[in-house]
Amino acid sequence: MKKIDNQLLVIFGASGDLTVRKLIPALFNLYKEGHLPENFAVLGTSRSNMTDEEFRAKVVTESKFLKDSISDEAIDFIEGFANRMFYEDLGGSYEEPYIGLKNRVESINKEFSLDNNVIYYLSTPPGIYELISKNLKDQGLSEENKGWKRLIVEKPFGYTLETAKALNKGIQTYFNESQIYRIDHYLGKETVQNLLVTRFSNSIFEPLWNRNYINHIEITNAESVGVGSRGGYYDKSGALRDMFQNHLLQIVSLVAMEPPIDANAESIRNEKVKALQSIRHLNEETFYTNTTRGQYLASTINGEKVKGYREEDGVADNSMTETYAAIKFYIDNWRWKDVPFYVRTAKCMPTKVTEVVIHFKPSHHRLFEGTNSDNRLIIRIQPDEGILMKFGVKVPGQGFKVETANLDFHYTDLVDTYVMEAYERLLLDAMQGDATLYARADEVEAAWAFVDPILEEWKSNREKMHGYPAGTWGPKFADKLIDGQDGWRNPGPNLTDSADYCEL
Ligand code: BG6
Repeated sequence: MKKIDNQLLVIFGASGDLTVRKLIPALFNLYKEGHLPENFAVLGTSRSNMTDEEFRAKVVTESKFLKDSISDEAIDFIEGFANRMFYEDLGGSYEEPYIGLKNRVESINKEFSLDNNVIYYLSTPPGIYELISKNLKDQGLSEENKGWKRLIVEKPFGYTLETAKALNKGIQTYFNESQIYRIDHYLGKETVQNLLVTRFSNSIFEPLWNRNYINHIEITNAESVGVGSRGGYYDKSGALRDMFQNHLLQIVSLVAMEPPIDANAESIRNEKVKALQSIRHLNEETFYTNTTRGQYLASTINGEKVKGYREEDGVADNSMTETYAAIKFYIDNWRWKDVPFYVRTAKCMPTKVTEVVIHFKPSHHRLFEGTNSDNRLIIRIQPDEGILMKFGVKVPGQGFKVETANLDFHYTDLVDTYVMEAYERLLLDAMQGDATLYARADEVEAAWAFVDPILEEWKSNREKMHGYPAGTWGPKFADKLIDGQDGWRNPGPNLTDSADYCEL
């Protein structure tokens, strides 16, 4: 493992949910596993008034998200971690010059000998990313003459192509692109990274990984829950912005990219961006045939009533925001010409699952009458992470009857391996200055360039919004999108018999 420099992590928006729910638990696990550098500290900052002690209690000692991880640890071990946490009140506004913050950064740097290395983590609304970057620069806090400085930004990274470009340009005015780390927590998932290893460290897959052998590619991201308490945010976002533009197109880029020249961040990201730029954009003729949008409706699952999307808190009564999106598209390059990609994401599905299914073409000469081996490679991103290969075997007995068998690998079989949570892995990478698993500006823009026209078209409401009962695999209309390919692979049955499919 690379050596990790001494450093300070400054979290903006530290009084918010992400810090206590994800960031501090991830840091604690890194601390437990001995991954943090010897000299390390965290400075939380936001507009709330809090002392260091109150911050430590909130994010460590009294945090319900750390309860299980700290219960078996000795008190001084926990204190050793908590005492590295500090808090600086920005005084009610992100706009005022960061003089107090600068003094605090300097004093903590000195006290802990942090060598002036700092990561700024922006866990605030994206509308103020540029402002924060400017204020940091104004105080000389982005300068790298003494120690390095890095900036991690959370999604959403833009709302449209135009706003994403403006945001990139805005932040790049104050930080260099090499200092900027755009987080996409899907890239922190072990199984997403394994897409690269499966493809490029084995000799058996890559020769088949192209239009000659692959019939189509299907990617499903299903969540069993609805929008819960996030209705206010979600209603302005929708499935396409919330999941497809970032997480799912990141997966697509890893499935579709060409082999990189080496395993460096820039080499890998160069290939990913090329794949994204090669996606054929939809147009007047293909919007209707290649996209389906839907919204979940109230239903009853196992005797319990489940709310419909429009009944959720923060959601407009006549909302036309999609909670289901399915898109068919092509990648216009040498490798993928004419191979359709089918990608769908949705809330309130029968189960939580994310998987990539590579459907191979049937064998070109059918030797055994009446059979057709169903060759599929299923890469299960979550849960039950692993890989499943489906292939034909002979049914024992007379003649040549073929049946599909499974060859599978589950990550849980690697009993001795500790699998890091996405945020652990990503924080550790940023601490080491490795941006491979972070999205580059041009990647984000290429993804928006594909999504933008679809959003525009959907905004016009020319395309129907299909209601689907919560607990089902989405609008029936989406079946048309995948016509001729034996339908979607739905891992599990619908959870409700409700047949209230409708157009909204
Ligand atoms: C987030 C989305 O980025 O990803 C959420 O904003 C979604 O709406 C979540 O629920 C899904 O993440 P995971 O890791 O649970 O699949």
